[in-house]
Amino acid sequence: AANLLRHVDSMTTLPSGAGKISRLNAVILGESLASEEDDLVIPCPDFSSKAHVPSPDKYLEMYQRSIEDPAGFWSDIAATQFYWKQKWGKSVYSENLDIRKGRINIEWFKGGITNISYNCLDANIAAGNGEKIAIYWEGNDLGVDASLTYNQLLHRVCQLANYLKDIGIRKGDAVLIYLPMLMELPIAMLACARIGAVHSVVFAGFSSEALVQRIMDCKPKVVITCNAVRRGPKTINLKDIVDTALAESSRNGSLVDVCLTYANDSALKKESTKWVEGRDIWWQDVVPKYPTTCDVEWVDAEDPLFLLYTSGSTGKPKGVLHTTGGYMVYTATTFKYAFDYKPSDIYWCTADCGWITGHSYVTYGPLLNGATVVVFEGAPNYPDSGRCWDIVDKYKVSIFYTAPTLVRSLMREGDEHVTRYSRKSLRVLGSVGEPINPSAWRWFFNVVGDSRCPISDTWWQTETGGFMITPLPGAWPQKPGSATFPFFGVQPVIVDEKGVEIEGECSGYLCVKNSWPGAFRTLYGDHERYETTYFSAFPGYYFSGDGCSRDKDGYHWLTGRVDDVINVSGHRIGTAEVESALVSHPQCSEAAVVGVEHEVKGQGIYAFVTLVEGVPYSEDLRKSLILTVRKQIGAFAAPDRIHWAPGLPKTRSGKIMRRILRKIASRQLDELGDISTLADPGVVDQLIELADC
Ligand code: PRX
Repeated sequence: AANLLRHVDSMTTLPSGAGKISRLNAVILGESLASEEDDLVIPCPDFSSKAHVPSPDKYLEMYQRSIEDPAGFWSDIAATQFYWKQKWGKSVYSENLDIRKGRINIEWFKGGITNISYNCLDANIAAGNGEKIAIYWEGNDLGVDASLTYNQLLHRVCQLANYLKDIGIRKGDAVLIYLPMLMELPIAMLACARIGAVHSVVFAGFSSEALVQRIMDCKPKVVITCNAVRRGPKTINLKDIVDTALAESSRNGSLVDVCLTYANDSALKKESTKWVEGRDIWWQDVVPKYPTTCDVEWVDAEDPLFLLYTSGSTGKPKGVLHTTGGYMVYTATTFKYAFDYKPSDIYWCTADCGWITGHSYVTYGPLLNGATVVVFEGAPNYPDSGRCWDIVDKYKVSIFYTAPTLVRSLMREGDEHVTRYSRKSLRVLGSVGEPINPSAWRWFFNVVGDSRCPISDTWWQTETGGFMITPLPGAWPQKPGSATFPFFGVQPVIVDEKGVEIEGECSGYLCVKNSWPGAFRTLYGDHERYETTYFSAFPGYYFSGDGCSRDKDGYHWLTGRVDDVINVSGHRIGTAEVESALVSHPQCSEAAVVGVEHEVKGQGIYAFVTLVEGVPYSEDLRKSLILTVRKQIGAFAAPDRIHWAPGLPKTRSGKIMRRILRKIASRQLDELGDISTLADPGVVDQLIELADC
């Protein structure tokens, strides 16, 4: 805060004026700190004057209160902006983030009785928003669309909730949802929440084997899916993937009783869908027959809301568990402030509900605020690269939230795909998933936003539930590529490798000092892994796994993961997961995967593979290795590059030296460093020779 205060002093002397960036120097990834002085983007005074947080002073006042009195700050918001059947107990929160003091424990609003589905729907309807559009749905193909008002959405949610109750789903039961971006996806999430069931949404790009892994872990009685989906020019038969997964998981002892299947007619006719009698049920045959009202299951603030699997540094995905009350308060509040949300806004987030962004900022955060949300089924470059702006103009989208990878890919297609659309409804832009390089930031700001829309570069994670470090539009000058300052109630710290906090201008490991309402509470079924992964590396803190720099003005610059997790097109992938898929190939004996810089995806997947003795490397084998990864994880995890490695650089104790592999993968051959500790330094030359093989 002291840093920021100093900065605020200097900002008040800055010339005011609209936000055009004066210097458009070409900046490549990683150079972000270089030209910060020249790159301050001053918010438009007119925007700031109407913003929820109109000035740095106002931010500081709110931020300081949130840190000095978290209980008061959050309970004021929780009590005034949400419906509680019964207020929480004496303490607003309790926490232990210090592993040295015992079990890690975080609770917010414990004893408070509420329901997030009620707060998303019934509460907004009671406030007079029943006829407001809740969801505009835009199909993959032009001209295919639909919408639901809050009243209609409530009816749909209640019908499904009643059906789920009828087939025996009760509070605490897991329901697995494997759906693309149809309206039925948020409907299914809200229906589960309404009856206290715990949803586990699996991104519909995951393969059947990945689905089996998740089914085996959370053991759902029902899976909700659809027969097929259109994505760009392709039709993907999801039901086939589910069928394979259900057969395999039942062989392994986890029997799913019901597979509720939505007939997505525009993708595949019902008659062409494969069917397992007795297990499979068409959604349209049963759900519409149920009543459109459904009593709410009132739950404790600390009752689980959902499980979401994410990648870590081992091969087994982690079931991140979020509970109800804190997550509700946090997602709604972050949504309101980080996008300066106003009731007249039309909001579109391009993320899929299969990831945390879709949970917190397609479904819960916006609907809790009574917002109108655009849900898009298709691909952003179909039928052409102007599709996003066509949708923006069609629905008069005012807040547009996306990932840097999309920004970069559209930027390559040329400005004319953007400028032929009006986009005048746009007011706020957002970015998430990976660091946004300053040149992409500038293009997003200048071309998409016509130099008038602030960009909220929101840093957060599946684990954090909601935004942690983010600009508040209009509150302070922005620096392209910086996520700026912490959200209310969040105390980020940068520590060195010994876990000592570093003050002022510095670089190090990004940790958080305290709990916040949206924090995850455990890893499903494995609290010990929760404690060791996140709270043991730097005792006393939550460790994010990210590197971060802070500049002299206190702005934060995220520098990427420091663990064995890579970020491909904003999708988080564990290198160990890809490696274990590769070594499952009968002809692959060992694999080492690293991330390399990729112009569009942010990071690409680069795999070194050692083959079984006597097996020659060939083009067919390369393809078959990639196919194995697609089958085991999903197409999004397919390696960009396979590098045949007759030997891997290992220490004498057998540990692979990834540092060397990263340098070889990015062809920084003069930066290999000391290779004398390798058991066989000769493998390095061999790998370099085979690099273009
Ligand atoms: O490395 C950070 C990166 O994405 C990781 C979290 O991935 P996931 O849990 O899948 O959630 C993605 C959506 C919240 C982080 O550890 N990341 C996310 N947002 C940003 C980011 N890196 C830099 N800047 C961001 N705005």
